[in-house]
Amino acid sequence: MISSYRHIRIQKIKKQKQKTKKIHPMAAEVSYLSGPLADNFGECMKVYGDTICLVKDGVPIISVGCGNGYFESLQQVHRGRDIYGADPNPNAFQKVPDEIYNKSCLKPITTTLQTGALDKYRGQAFLILNWSPPQTTWDIDGASSGMRNFDPKEANFDIAAIYRMMPVGFFVTYAPCGGSGSEELCELLYDENITISDGVDDDEIEYMMVSRFTNVYGSGGGFSGKTYRAVGYVRNDMVPDGYVAHDMFVESEYTELCNIM
Ligand SMILES: C[S@@+](CC[C@H](N)C(=O)[O-])C[C@H]1O[C@@H](n2cnc3c(N)ncnc32)[C@H](O)[C@@H]1O
Repeated sequence: MISSYRHIRIQKIKKQKQKTKKIHPMAAEVSYLSGPLADNFGECMKVYGDTICLVKDGVPIISVGCGNGYFESLQQVHRGRDIYGADPNPNAFQKVPDEIYNKSCLKPITTTLQTGALDKYRGQAFLILNWSPPQTTWDIDGASSGMRNFDPKEANFDIAAIYRMMPVGFFVTYAPCGGSGSEELCELLYDENITISDGVDDDEIEYMMVSRFTNVYGSGGGFSGKTYRAVGYVRNDMVPDGYVAHDMFVESEYTELCNIM
């Protein structure tokens, strides 16, 4: 028979074990991810992974408009590669509890692309654009900034970030149905091979799509008109010979989590 002293000790040890139980860093709380990223998290990780593994260690990874940076921080933990964020107002779009923000999110530089604070990375960095707004004139206050004539170096930060930073590659999540990503960005990402010119000294960079995931909501006759996409590109010279891009496509039911528009 167990003495009551031993019984209490065993209970104590059990409690201590419970307390120190480790939670895997990838045990993501999807509700902190914005929009349909929650529903498509696994696939986004795959597209990001396929892409980033072609990018050499030491290349800075910058997420422009990272918001709370929760998605990026999960990638950072999982891949063991630092990600820097830039956002003028990190918690405005999707606020996470302070405790989570302090512990598990990127601490971005509070700047817009247009200030030029990221220009030092031009030609050097890998770019992340996670769910940029669809409006070409969207700015920090959500108001029109009056940029009626589109200039990729000045207009909405998504496509402008590509032209301004001339990255070695980029990973984008967006909704070509109009939910996220400027019209110009969606048009650019329509092609599997992209050439961009910096418009200054006419340097050109050619990119190849290395991985893509598309989720069309509503199957059969129930097409909802909503499409979610994650895609990764890198500079042509970084793609191994004979590389075949991964292209995944699913049709799924529309859920509350996928409130794209
Ligand atoms: C639709 S939210 C997405 C945020 C985050 N990536 C996510 O998915 O939760 C767009 C973000 O872009 C930021 N933003 C707006 N204008 C910007 C600019 N000119 N440069 C950099 N970030 C900007 C906003 O503050 C906002 O956090």
